Amino acid sequence: ENLVLSDGVFSMDGDIAELPAISRMCKKNKSWFMVDDAHGFGTLGETGKGCLQYFSLDGDDIPIYMATLGKAMGTAGAFIAGSEELIETIIQKARTYIYTTAMPAAIAEATRYSLHIIQNESRHLNNLNGNIAYFKLCCQELSLPVENSETAIQPMIIGDDYAVLQISDALFASGFLVTAIRPPTVPQGTSRLRITLSAKHTHEHIDSLTETLARLLE
Ligand SMILES: Cc1ncc(COP(=O)(O)O)c(C=O)c1O
Repeated sequence: ENLVLSDGVFSMDGDIAELPAISRMCKKNKSWFMVDDAHGFGTLGETGKGCLQYFSLDGDDIPIYMATLGKAMGTAGAFIAGSEELIETIIQKARTYIYTTAMPAAIAEATRYSLHIIQNESRHLNNLNGNIAYFKLCCQELSLPVENSETAIQPMIIGDDYAVLQISDALFASGFLVTAIRPPTVPQGTSRLRITLSAKHTHEHIDSLTETLARLLE
């Protein structure tokens, strides 16, 4: 059988994969479908349940769902969710799982607590979504070259490899950690700043970042 693999949210562009269409294609062709939702889990969907909730899909549509815990969850590690048969097979056969030390109990407990927060404190997700909308608005007002991402990952394409490093350094000197992403991580000529918004950012942070960017890109 074929295995089709996609990110839920693409890590360098912040765009969301067309999962319903890919899922339909997989069902038609009897292929497995696996989604890596590292950047969607905890941030996408009405209550942060990720790409499944965003698109109202279920385990029948995406039989192998994977996400990491080091991003929205703020801990470390990852998980795979799927049918009992799939999970049992992985437990019994996955060499990287068998020959490694189990997740420390403290990380597991911290992860459980993160899940509890995501499920019970909707203000964080509301803040994040508000920050994404506010960032895009500020970029529009300042004519900054923002892309068409509706997620926490907001790339700003600069093009030149050296220029992007210089801007990233200048931002760091002004108190902003915005990484420069260059080839081969992204295609030649599309070096970019990868701005990652969080629920803890404030409108003042975003004003300050976008005003600094506007000055640096003049
Ligand atoms: C799509 C995707 N999957 C998996 C990972 C790995 O995540 P972690 O570093 O938490 O293992 C990353 C890291 O950025 C990612 O972008």
